[in-house]
Amino acid sequence: MSDVILIESPPTVAEYIVLRQQIGWGVIDEDTARRTIDGACYTVCLRREGRLLGLVRLIGDGCLYFAFSDVMVSPELQGGGHGARMMRAAVEYLRRAAKPGASITLQPLAGREAFYEKFGFVRCPSGPFGQGMVFADAPPPVGGRFG
Ligand SMILES: CC(C)(COP(=O)(O)OP(=O)(O)OC[C@H]1O[C@@H](n2cnc3c(N)ncnc32)[C@H](O)[C@@H]1OP(=O)(O)O)[C@@H](O)C(=O)NCCC(=O)NCCS
Repeated sequence: MSDVILIESPPTVAEYIVLRQQIGWGVIDEDTARRTIDGACYTVCLRREGRLLGLVRLIGDGCLYFAFSDVMVSPELQGGGHGARMMRAAVEYLRRAAKPGASITLQPLAGREAFYEKFGFVRCPSGPFGQGMVFADAPPPVGGRFG
């Protein structure tokens, strides 16, 4: 694990596009990649010898609203504790950045809930919150699928 480092900075457009494809989430164009990379308030990348092998991103305003948008570890490194390292870094960021009343959400893919529970997330409904919801007519990925 020692040669795999965490860097709190965004990926390049090209490497972000490639990593999404490796995960199986399909193809996005360069403009889309640039806009979503720039839209994150926090990004931590996993790199080995400079190569992008994972990332966690948070979309939001950096104070009141945060949503986990990508949690990805390259297939060659999955199961090695790297996803957990990135999640711990993201949670540390949230503890620094989130203001009183902050909303911190994530919509896990089916079956990933137990992974996120390790880092302080709880399943909904919980407390004042109802079940999570997603917009049913969101455009599907091109050349890939979530799951
Ligand atoms: C899900 C993912 C980010 C986990 O990262 P990882 O590096 O493989 O996981 P780690 O090795 O850090 O695992 C940390 C802990 O979580 C557990 N875990 C890992 N993947 C899990 C899963 N899919 N469901 C439940 N638990 C999981 C591990 O068993 C380990 O438990 P332990 O601490 O008790 O030993 C990674 O497998 C991945 O990128 N998958 C494909 C994309 C994806 O599904 N992303 C999440 C979208 S919601």
